[in-house]
Amino acid sequence: MSPFFAATFLLCLSLANAVNFTTVYQWDKFDFVWPSGADTSINRNFDPKNVEFRYMAVFGERLFLSLENTNPGIPATLVWLPTSGSSAAPPKLAPFPTWELHKKDKCDTIQRAYGIDTDSDGRLWVLDDGSSECPGKLWIFNLLNNDTVEREHQFPEKVVSHSFSKRYLRDIVLDKTPDDSLAYITDLSFEHIVVYSRKTDKSWEARQLYLRGFESKELYSLSVSELKNEDGSAAVKLIGEWTGSPYRMVIDSRNVLYAAFIEKSYASKWNISEPFREQRLREVGELDAYWPFTFALDTNGTLWVTQRIEIEAGNKTRHILLKAAVGARSNLFSTSAGG
Ligand SMILES: *[C@@H]1O[C@H](CO)[C@@H](O)[C@H](O)[C@H]1NC(C)=O
Ligand SMILES: *[C@@H]1O[C@H](CO)[C@@H](O)[C@H](O)[C@H]1NC(C)=O
Ligand SMILES: *[C@@H]1O[C@H](CO)[C@@H](O)[C@H](O)[C@H]1NC(C)=O
Ligand SMILES: *[C@@H]1O[C@H](CO)[C@@H](O)[C@H](O)[C@H]1NC(C)=O
Ligand SMILES: *[C@@H]1O[C@H](CO)[C@@H](O)[C@H](O)[C@H]1NC(C)=O
Repeated sequence: MSPFFAATFLLCLSLANAVNFTTVYQWDKFDFVWPSGADTSINRNFDPKNVEFRYMAVFGERLFLSLENTNPGIPATLVWLPTSGSSAAPPKLAPFPTWELHKKDKCDTIQRAYGIDTDSDGRLWVLDDGSSECPGKLWIFNLLNNDTVEREHQFPEKVVSHSFSKRYLRDIVLDKTPDDSLAYITDLSFEHIVVYSRKTDKSWEARQLYLRGFESKELYSLSVSELKNEDGSAAVKLIGEWTGSPYRMVIDSRNVLYAAFIEKSYASKWNISEPFREQRLREVGELDAYWPFTFALDTNGTLWVTQRIEIEAGNKTRHILLKAAVGARSNLFSTSAGG
């Protein structure tokens, strides 16, 4: 085969494999759905540029987004949007579930959402890293029952430190077993995984688990069956090395893993049925973020992606919500140790 033919053939192949995105919304400036009264405990004077999407989940006709909390003035850490809109204007960000649960003057509210996921029974699971005053928590909301709080699990001190500087909770993935729902959570401060059982309302640490932490390009796998026992230990396996440090990964039912990387202007994919090979999923022009993309997969096989780009020579930030038909959500899990 001539090299030219090979190149053409590869190009055709990659076009056929291309994920075709359509734009759902585009924001050059965000606004929130504000409460009707003049509630002075809510900061309405935030800088729209400081709104940065961090994690996304979808259920039915709602998309849930957690916002980066280290940015000053953000009035809510968790918001929702409709998956489709009737007007040309992009939707405002609605607090989830209510403004009441975003007041920061007490610990029985959501402090900092750093991981969200939905299950097939209509629950939204929210990982809350807490604050300097408040310990970390796992919240479970029932989306099919007026978004009521079903669980507010405060991690015991021996599982997740109550000292703010000794925990770094990031990202949650759910595992539905025949008689339970488990959540796997990464605590980057000690590079371990925390497991929570909905049935017993208990959490524990998966011990003797060594993930090469923070900002590594290496990709590892481990068997979740080994995490399910309270005294379980799990061996990790090195699979390959990405071109960047992933902060977000999801896998669809066709076994394609999608990954976004810290400070990289592209997102990649890898068909995990094949030997490790990184392929481009999407590239943005000017990078304007530490975490430029978020991903979520719904049960209908739609991949939802947000991207943050610079426009007007860096004077403005634009956020775009895109969707593409891929495979439905997989029962394989992915989480990442990035940022
Ligand atoms: C994406 O669109 C191209 C051009 O229309 C088409 O050839 C390709 O099959 C599509 N890919 C997928 C995965 O739908
Ligand atoms: C997925 O499909 C179901 C049934 O057709 C529909 O009710 C639901 O709104 C869809 N979800 C999204 C996110 O479009
Ligand atoms: C949700 O709340 C509304 C208004 O309070 C009520 O009418 C409705 O029955 C509730 N729905 C459920 C599923 O509880
Ligand atoms: C992934 O790789 C397998 C094995 O080569 C192949 O059969 C499958 O079609 C690939 N999936 C996608 C979505 O490209
Ligand atoms: C960006 O802002 C600077 C300073 O305000 C201004 O001089 C410049 O013209 C702006 N560039 C664009 C492309 O809007």
